[in-house]
Amino acid sequence: MTKTWTPDSWRSKPIRQVPEYPDQGELEAVEEELRNSPPLVFAGEARRLKSQLADVAAGKAFLLQGGDCAESFAEFHANNIRDTFRVLMQMSVALTFAASCPVVKVGRMAGQFAKPRSAATEVQNGVELPSYRGDIINGIDFTPEARIPDPRRMSRAYSQAAATLNLLRAFAQGGFANLHKVHQWNLDFVSNSPAAERYQDMADRIDEALRFMEACGVNAELPQFQGTDFYVSHEALLLWYEEALTRTDSTTGKWYDTSGHMLWIGDRTRVLDEAHVEFLSGIENPLGVKVGPTTDLDELIRILDKLNPSNEAGRITLICRMGADKVEDKLPPVIRRIKEEGRTVVWSSDPMHGNTIKSTSGFKTRPFDRVLQEVRSFFKVHKGEGTYAGGVHFEMTGQNVTECIGGAEAITDEKLADRYHTHCDPRLNASQSLELAFLIAESLKEERDARNAEMKKVS
Ligand code: PEP
Ligand code: CO
Repeated sequence: MTKTWTPDSWRSKPIRQVPEYPDQGELEAVEEELRNSPPLVFAGEARRLKSQLADVAAGKAFLLQGGDCAESFAEFHANNIRDTFRVLMQMSVALTFAASCPVVKVGRMAGQFAKPRSAATEVQNGVELPSYRGDIINGIDFTPEARIPDPRRMSRAYSQAAATLNLLRAFAQGGFANLHKVHQWNLDFVSNSPAAERYQDMADRIDEALRFMEACGVNAELPQFQGTDFYVSHEALLLWYEEALTRTDSTTGKWYDTSGHMLWIGDRTRVLDEAHVEFLSGIENPLGVKVGPTTDLDELIRILDKLNPSNEAGRITLICRMGADKVEDKLPPVIRRIKEEGRTVVWSSDPMHGNTIKSTSGFKTRPFDRVLQEVRSFFKVHKGEGTYAGGVHFEMTGQNVTECIGGAEAITDEKLADRYHTHCDPRLNASQSLELAFLIAESLKEERDARNAEMKKVS
């Protein structure tokens, strides 16, 4: 952190991927409203997440981070929030059960509205309009009016985030996440998929284990079985929104961005000496840093110097999104450099953003095989380098969408049009997510068994 950091010091730096608001007065009014609104998360929660991420960095837990590519006003519904939460819980249980590994659960939820775009404008039938940048900025309809950045959308996004978080807190602590409900988490359409059979089998075994414990006199109503910690995260892209929700924590006097527990910086805005790195350098929340195939390693180290000068464990998660075909070439140099420099990070794999293609029918899609392949290669590379593959970061929904091709249900190019609902990138549906979880569980189990065997040899 530079000595001159303030929540608004980003404003004097070059910035990219943000809108130009036509009406400054309106922007300032919304900023004032947000500054006077209650925080969405508390500093103590962000600290707790950071300490759990320090456990991940040390190889003692696994990070599961997932949710929408872009939340939208249109898809805002209790059922959608419930279904995404439920799939994350199913995935988490699969990982904990198969690999005996605690899972840190972080949703891409309650604030994941703003999107970086590869082009500033979009052309349809010869008409060129500004690109859609997420519901917090402008509208998705292809009309000149909808595409004008409107600061009042920040206010609506804040309210939606507050209501989403309220429901998530209720789900996490109010009984829905109780381990005794592991059977009920199986959604109808998941129960028709091959991953569901595996899940049912696992749920039966968990039930059995709980009954066994109860019979032995262990209290299966312990708080650990009844609820869970669940955190929220989003890309810190729209800095007016982030700045307005940044507050000093009364117990430590430090700055926290109270818009989410964890914030990340995207592959397109991760630039030293620019606004996004400057803003994130001064807040205490745990941070994600996207690392794509074109990352300059010297610059990455200088960014880490700025974001985490004391090399605090749990502060930085490197979210690697290389692409299935590049990960085996591109990831090892990153890992070696981070090791050489003695940095402590969580290594997480984003198998989505390097694997986006245009299907022959014209949809933006991701072949599920490639998603799985990137995760497999991620584990393999870490094994080779002697580092811990600590997490995954992915785009999913609990809805029965057809956005990524492949998976056990074999979604084909022709079927993409059936239920293609995303506002931005294609997401895994519930059964694809569950399939991914079982793959990770196997890789993680292998990794942990190998480490345990190694430890036994040493002792
Ligand atoms: C995202 O996570 O939605 C995203 C845009 O990722 P990236 O910055 O890695 O492209
Ligand atoms: Co995306």
